[in-house]
Amino acid sequence: MGVGRVKGRYWGKIWGFAEEMELSEDDSWVIKYFENIDDPRNLIDLGIGEPDFDLFEPLKAEAERVIRRGLNKYTQTAGVPELREAIAEYYSRRWGVSVNPDSVIVTPGASNALFMSLASIIHPEDGVVIPTPSFPSFISLTKILRGRVVEVEPLPESDFQIDIDGVEAVLRQGAKAVIINSPTNPTGTIIDESNFSRVVEQCRANGAYLISDEVYERFVYGVDYVSAAKYLRDYDRIIIVNSFSKTLAMTGWRLGYMIVPEHLRPSIIRLQAYINACPPSVAQYVALYALKSSEVQKMIDERVLECWRRRDVLHKELNSRGVPAHLPKGGIYLFPRIPLPLDSETFCNRLAKEEGVVAIPGKAFGKGGEGHFRVTLSASSEKLVEAAERIASFVDRAKSK
Ligand SMILES: Cc1ncc(COP(=O)(O)O)c(C=O)c1O
Repeated sequence: MGVGRVKGRYWGKIWGFAEEMELSEDDSWVIKYFENIDDPRNLIDLGIGEPDFDLFEPLKAEAERVIRRGLNKYTQTAGVPELREAIAEYYSRRWGVSVNPDSVIVTPGASNALFMSLASIIHPEDGVVIPTPSFPSFISLTKILRGRVVEVEPLPESDFQIDIDGVEAVLRQGAKAVIINSPTNPTGTIIDESNFSRVVEQCRANGAYLISDEVYERFVYGVDYVSAAKYLRDYDRIIIVNSFSKTLAMTGWRLGYMIVPEHLRPSIIRLQAYINACPPSVAQYVALYALKSSEVQKMIDERVLECWRRRDVLHKELNSRGVPAHLPKGGIYLFPRIPLPLDSETFCNRLAKEEGVVAIPGKAFGKGGEGHFRVTLSASSEKLVEAAERIASFVDRAKSK
């Protein structure tokens, strides 16, 4: 396909990108490790990016009611109005701000919201600042849209704290956007209020967009957490991305949302109309029920507590067995250091093959990730203890060779 000119910008290179694209290394990790397992019955899968919980029972019942009521058709492009109101209310209540339901756009998952955010703001060659290690989609989506990825590695010896000065330096050179994710996948880092304020301030000083991925906002373990919602009043280039995937254990239902500035709404609605038509209808009514139900909200809090317990168990078990892992403040992952002279891909390959434990190599998460591996809190505490034992026995065996 030729290069087309749209409003003075070249967009044609986006079309046909599949012809040039090799399957990027970070896209196929989980599949790769499953292929490697000798005995699948023996598997402990800590590779997948979701907890092992099932959808809450009241939500299953609500889904049945919704289907029987015939709410199976297209909805409004931006999503069901009652759900957008409930999301606006949820954010307004939590952060003491006034979020307008019109600024909420419900999407098929946060993944899609991230794509539409970037597609609506970047042109080819625009810089996108991504503190790494990060969720691989940030880098891949930026590349797919022909943006220029600018990775900023964490401060050394800081348990993966964002290098705010590094972010500032890149912004001053004219980057178009910054993507932050607190709590972070894969490190569990939480960006504290003073650093968050600095990022917002730097975006404002340089006219850059801030995309704040908040899909793990409920998974916070006893520390202060701040959402970008706190800054919506101060700056009009903030996009918040969130999801029901992890909170309601409905990853397969594909439901997320974004809170967008007024000036971006028309272009994002247009993208949604032509890419998705609308978000999935049944999932929307189920999410609405979840937001309104104090019973379901309590169930979410209980699950977060369970993840907190699992984090403590796995952290203790790994460290006491000589596999060093920092303590994540939130999220659903641990990101231990590999205590062997092996690269992360070889380590995870051998761990899967020899011990049946599936983990993801740190290199999949960008710069600063190599030398680590990611494990998800996706099994019971007992299973996590067993996983730690197996990881440690693999490490001991490899060391003694
Ligand atoms: C940081 C982050 N953002 C977005 C997503 C995608 O979420 P969804 O299932 O809503 O597309 C994930 C999934 O793992 C994630 O870790």
